Amino acid sequence: MINRRLAIQTLILFFSADIMAAPPVEITVNADQPGAHISRQIYGQFAEHLGRGIYQGIWVGKDSPIPNTNGIRTDVVDALKKLHIPSIRWPGGCFADEYHWRDGIGPAELRPVKVNNHWGGVAETNAFGTHEFFDLVEMLGTDAYIAGNLGSGSPREMMEWLEYMTSDSQSSLAGLRRKNGRAEPWKVAFWGVGNESWGCGGNMQPEYYADLYRQYATFLKAPEGNRPKKVASGGYNELTDWTEVLSRIPANIDGISFHYYSLPTGDWDQKGSAVNFPRHEWVSLLSNSLKIEAYIRNNIAILEENDPEGKIGLYVDEWGSWYDTESGRNPGFLYQQNTIRDAVLAAVNFNIFHLYAERVHMTNIAQMVNVLQAMILTEQEKMLLTPTYHVFEMHTVFQDSTRVPVTIAEMPRVSSGEISIPALSVSAARGKDGKLYLSLVNLDPQNPISLNMTIEGYEVSGAMGRVLTGDHIDSHNTFDSPATVAPAPYIAKTRGNAIRVNLPARSVSVLQIKQ
Ligand code: AHR
Repeated sequence: MINRRLAIQTLILFFSADIMAAPPVEITVNADQPGAHISRQIYGQFAEHLGRGIYQGIWVGKDSPIPNTNGIRTDVVDALKKLHIPSIRWPGGCFADEYHWRDGIGPAELRPVKVNNHWGGVAETNAFGTHEFFDLVEMLGTDAYIAGNLGSGSPREMMEWLEYMTSDSQSSLAGLRRKNGRAEPWKVAFWGVGNESWGCGGNMQPEYYADLYRQYATFLKAPEGNRPKKVASGGYNELTDWTEVLSRIPANIDGISFHYYSLPTGDWDQKGSAVNFPRHEWVSLLSNSLKIEAYIRNNIAILEENDPEGKIGLYVDEWGSWYDTESGRNPGFLYQQNTIRDAVLAAVNFNIFHLYAERVHMTNIAQMVNVLQAMILTEQEKMLLTPTYHVFEMHTVFQDSTRVPVTIAEMPRVSSGEISIPALSVSAARGKDGKLYLSLVNLDPQNPISLNMTIEGYEVSGAMGRVLTGDHIDSHNTFDSPATVAPAPYIAKTRGNAIRVNLPARSVSVLQIKQ
């Protein structure tokens, strides 16, 4: 009797699993139809004088017991090297428009201690300044993206900072740099003229800022071969008027910035929690994050109209998740945990940036260490890599790649209440090495998705890579358990040019298709 019941149960399980399992999603990748260049700058970082983003996260000082090189944490630099970071935006953020660069040069003991008025009202020792930032840049082999102070500075102050960094002349400023220990000029790749000038950067109207941009940019002079690309401070969320105004002015603009943060609730007073969140907030966060695609598209439509030659890029130089502060922490420090949900969010954003790579020339996630959607969290001498770190590391193969088209026959969806989002995000590109890479994201918090992929124009001999997932919707790494969420190897089944892939629920995979 018991055996009969067991047999019936087994049969029910067998059939129900078969009936309930969704059919594979049919996907075609046209590897022989190269599209836009995916700039490595899409994988940029942002480090602001905010909370423990710089102090303790990157800078511990030369006398610290925490291992460091010239005051910069060795463990953090070693981990960041693996991300091949293309650029770091510094010193803010909102901090940039309150920062006066002369406070951060010269002997440390003579540097003024200021108040970081915007972030927590804490003391800003200026121990980390221009020289220390370029030390970090050179340790990581990355590009410098300086955010200049337009809001509370002057054209003269901004102009002189650039001269201090880049002049090889006998000027007093170049001499001061040499006296402070740096003989050669530094290379400055990008220069932001203010930050969020619609808000913390000065509460301006776009037309007023446009005139100021022209004024400041006039004086941003540097030697030939070391002239930074100039970035105008643009809009955010659904706004397009900043792009509209800035792309019409006769000015030398290489990029217009755009900022978008994803909140689970969409409400800045009660954003939602980084961990222990309900399933609904998995879906609502990703739904809010996906809105960036329409915002990017709308801004690009304006650029296409006003700049048909494609000279001006859209620089998404702040993006990522933003949650409520954990209780007991300084709300001005923006420290938050980072889960597999953040990893999925990051990968979905990458795939959107790839899709609009013709105009999205740069993005910078907010922020690199200990702030918002960070790559790394630190606590004294301890350090952990977040799920977002792993997603960045897995996607390094997309830096300076060439996009190829992907067609999804029928998009599976995930719902919660009124919200319905696509369950799948895919992008494909030929890497610098000529190999084909796929980024495959399953946004479904509970269900795996199987894929039947056909690769056109490419001899497939195998497909392998890594998958990142977690046991729970808020799986994350802690200092006691730092590898709870870590990439695992994955080998897909192939036959001819067909590939069968099973994506676990809530996962990000990057595969290399072998020839
Ligand atoms: O990244 C945190 C803050 O968010 C930045 O300082 C500011 O530019 C934005 O509002």
